[in-house]
Amino acid sequence: DANRPHVFVTLGASGDLARKKIYPTLWWLYRDNLLPPNTTFYGYARSKTTIEEIKAKCEPYMQVKPEELKRYNQFWALNHYLAGQYDSRTDFEKLNQEVNTFEKNAISNRLFYLALPPSVFEEVTVHIKESCMAQKGWTRIIIEKPFGRDLATSQKLSDHLASLFSEQQIYRIDHYLGKEMVQNLMTLRFGNRIFNPTWNRDNIASVQISFKEPFGTQGRGGYFDEFGIIRDIMQNHLLQILTLVAMEKPATCLPDDIRNEKVKVLKSIRELTLAETVLGQYIGDPQGEGEAKFSYLDDPTVPQGSVTPTYALAVLKINNERWDGVPFILKCGKALNERKAEVRIQFKDVPGDIFDGKPKRNELVIRVQPGEALYVKLMVKTPGMAFDMEETELDLTYGSRYAGVKLPDAYERLILDVFCGSQMNFVRSDELSEAWRIFTPLLHQIEMDKVKPIPYIFGSRGPKEADEMLIKNNFIYTGSYKWKPKM
Ligand code: BG6
Repeated sequence: DANRPHVFVTLGASGDLARKKIYPTLWWLYRDNLLPPNTTFYGYARSKTTIEEIKAKCEPYMQVKPEELKRYNQFWALNHYLAGQYDSRTDFEKLNQEVNTFEKNAISNRLFYLALPPSVFEEVTVHIKESCMAQKGWTRIIIEKPFGRDLATSQKLSDHLASLFSEQQIYRIDHYLGKEMVQNLMTLRFGNRIFNPTWNRDNIASVQISFKEPFGTQGRGGYFDEFGIIRDIMQNHLLQILTLVAMEKPATCLPDDIRNEKVKVLKSIRELTLAETVLGQYIGDPQGEGEAKFSYLDDPTVPQGSVTPTYALAVLKINNERWDGVPFILKCGKALNERKAEVRIQFKDVPGDIFDGKPKRNELVIRVQPGEALYVKLMVKTPGMAFDMEETELDLTYGSRYAGVKLPDAYERLILDVFCGSQMNFVRSDELSEAWRIFTPLLHQIEMDKVKPIPYIFGSRGPKEADEMLIKNNFIYTGSYKWKPKM
């Protein structure tokens, strides 16, 4: 029934996430006619504000073209706002009444996006369950990290959610799963003959999955400090990518077949130890500009003497027949020299070399951002008369090969998936729990022993100890070649 009403409720509608991500995403989906035609939007938060004020706050993030103005105003005309407390059943009953008025007793579906601090997750979900469930259609709940801060707290949250909703109703967002090149991993691996036969310990020397950002915590240090880079990036975004790189071929493309394979990979990884990591924290660069002059610890919202890492490298091993002995190196940091996220598969040296050690290792690089690309580093004869060799690449840069194709934002895909009921790109509770198992002992040790991170300069490549760790883990950086993206 194409005209069935859908109600999208943003809880925490006056907050940062709502303004920067949720409202813009809903607008783009609406603009592109991707939402069910009869969808309406409710915002709920504690602030006594109005939809006009929310609209004004969202303005800088909405990217409205002049010719879209009419449609843009239509979008806001479908938006409503209701102020209420997070711990008040009466207020949630009021929300329910408002939504009922729109639904007019028809079969209607409801989506709740919890853009809320974790401290109110539990009470809000109880109120949704008690007062706001769709009466005749489905109800889906979208939540964002932090999903707890270690295995125990995450388990507590999962148990709480499971007592209210079924797993099919819960959509845990990891927005990296909404990125084009992350979604591409399945197709690349299982839709091509060329890669899979070499995708194993016999051919691959090491796998590196990295995330770099050129800015620091930008005054959000107080928030960041409670989590640190391992919880912020590594335990979720990078580990999710790892599972897609390493998993066995699922029986089908159905979400649970895929997620079963991802869980299997995680189960084959044992708990990470401190000896397998390098931790860093940035310090100001006296020559730097703006934020770069300041250390992480200069942020007034960061507690004095904090040992929270802003950089981390970790080497994970997957104990199965395909990957035994292959280091999976996860690397992430803030305040580094560039913005980049990529997967780098480094192949082993050619056995029985006849070229006097000249061949460099092949690499397959999946560039997630910026500038989506896929390239393979390989050796060719130097073009021309001489019989020499050099490194070059097979290059699939999306910006040139698919010029003009719009790649949707991660949130656009993911929110649309929730409407469609596809859980393929959402984190299942057992997956989450395995992810926490791997990192929890290390996180506890860092906090209990106050493990000191290595200082690195804002804008640098990170601590040099990280490079030493790469060498120890079968990643060879020759530096003899640099891929230049064709934009
Ligand atoms: C978020 C982290 O999950 O991802 C942020 O909390 C980080 O610290 C962000 O900046 C990066 O996302 P993207 O899509 O800009 O790479």
